[in-house]
Amino acid sequence: MLLTERRVLLRALLLLLGLKTVATDAISDDSPLMLSTPSNLNVIEGATVLLPCNVLNIERKVRIWKHLPSRILFSGSISVSRDTQIHLVNGSALRIDAITPRYEGEYVCLVSHHPALNVTHRIHVLVPPTVEADPSSGKTIVRKGNAATLACNASGIPQPVITWTHEHDGIESTSLPSGVRQVLGGSQLQIASADVHHAGAYRCTADNDVGETAAAVIVLTVLYAPELVVSPEWIHGDEGATVEFTCTCNSAPPSHIAWVRTGQETPLVASDRVKLKQKLTPPTTTEAWLKLQRLRGEDLGSYACMAKNSVGQSMKTVEISGLAEPVQLRGDQSGDTSFLLMWTAKSYSPIIEYQLKIRRHKSDDEWTDVMIPVSEEGLQQSLFFSHSYNVTGLEPGTRYEAVLQAHNNFGWNRPSETMLFSAGDPPTTEPVVSSTYLPFYDADLDITDPTYLKQGSSTSSSPTFQLVHILFLIGLSLL
Ligand SMILES: *[C@@H]1O[C@H](CO)[C@@H](O)[C@H](O)[C@H]1NC(C)=O
Ligand SMILES: *[C@@H]1O[C@H](CO)[C@@H](O)[C@H](O)[C@H]1NC(C)=O
Ligand SMILES: *[C@@H]1O[C@H](CO)[C@@H](O)[C@H](O)[C@H]1NC(C)=O
Ligand SMILES: *[C@@H]1O[C@H](CO)[C@@H](O)[C@H](O)[C@H]1NC(C)=O
Repeated sequence: MLLTERRVLLRALLLLLGLKTVATDAISDDSPLMLSTPSNLNVIEGATVLLPCNVLNIERKVRIWKHLPSRILFSGSISVSRDTQIHLVNGSALRIDAITPRYEGEYVCLVSHHPALNVTHRIHVLVPPTVEADPSSGKTIVRKGNAATLACNASGIPQPVITWTHEHDGIESTSLPSGVRQVLGGSQLQIASADVHHAGAYRCTADNDVGETAAAVIVLTVLYAPELVVSPEWIHGDEGATVEFTCTCNSAPPSHIAWVRTGQETPLVASDRVKLKQKLTPPTTTEAWLKLQRLRGEDLGSYACMAKNSVGQSMKTVEISGLAEPVQLRGDQSGDTSFLLMWTAKSYSPIIEYQLKIRRHKSDDEWTDVMIPVSEEGLQQSLFFSHSYNVTGLEPGTRYEAVLQAHNNFGWNRPSETMLFSAGDPPTTEPVVSSTYLPFYDADLDITDPTYLKQGSSTSSSPTFQLVHILFLIGLSLL
């Protein structure tokens, strides 16, 4: 027992020193001994692997290399398989070049007549991931509402795990948009009904912890008809003012956009007063601006932003309103039980009628409606229409409130501010402000200028206001 141990130790030591022959000679017991130990190797495809089979005291016995279960590769130095990728090195070790999955398995080296004297190496071939996009063009085009399928065929050993990311409008996200279903172990994405938010680049990444990950990109284009947003939807037109509208169109493919005067066939063309501008922000947004300068009465009305692409068309209208501006009520005493209300309406089209509402102040009384038709020979100062109404049958000493609306070809305007009065009142100079004041537009003011809002909210200092006032006084003197 002691002797055997010493012999093995000695052999191992001599082997370490590379003195194999000396070792063999020096040892009296000449039965062969397997020095190589079994191994379990993970080998990446394409690599070279060396399987050792060092046997002490092999003498005239031969090594046999087998690929289990039964394929004999080498018997001694004779290549039985004639596999050009398998070589015997130094008469003992097996070398396999450019390994592929077919070299997967167990390799045993055994000594003839001593089959129990063997060493087994197990090779596990690993293959880095590869992916292929399906469709292989990497592009899918689908109409909004239709179904779409995107797939990534990944291969590798072990089978790679696929993860997806989605990039939309330059934002990459690991969470897929709602309505996207992953099937077949994540290799396929199914969209039952494609929507705008599904568009973008889908990147699949295959990873199996072997070598580099692999990725493929499929760009999904969702085609849809133009969707329009106009701003503002409504502008009060005033002679000489500048108005500007923006029409924002989203569509795929991008749309052709035109501004059309409602009721006309041909699109507006740019001129010294009409400015048109468009800007495409890929992939889907187009903005179209319409700017009208030095506004005239005939510019009033509605305008349509019309957009069209291969999928469909859409239209949104904006309006330069021709409604009369809210009226300012004034008044004068006209008797102990009567009061004369007066006003001047500003309108691009003649006033057809007025509606006056009167009730006792701070009461829940029903309003008394008075329709005031306008006779053809009514006083007209181009844009300005002056009128008066003698309210009779009032209770002396009682406060009343009145509101007036004007009706022209464009419709009823917004109500005037509420005016408080009582029979026998002296002439009023300023009405009591009890409702939101609608600003007048400055004749030469660009309303797209943000400072406009500040200026427009001041009431009596506006030049237009003063103009109305002066014309009103002229009108009065003509009475
Ligand atoms: C084969 O033998 C040579 C020379 O003896 C040595 O340099 C080499 O490392 C050996 N190769 C293997 C695989 O044992
Ligand atoms: C290798 O040796 C063991 C005993 O050590 C034996 O059970 C086994 O069958 C042998 N393998 C082959 C392939 O001969
Ligand atoms: C992906 O795999 C599926 C099923 O294995 C096959 O039908 C399809 O042709 C493959 N596509 C590509 C692009 O390799
Ligand atoms: C208003 O009506 C009252 C009462 O009928 C009358 O006395 C007054 O003269 C009228 N005023 C005007 C300006 O018509």
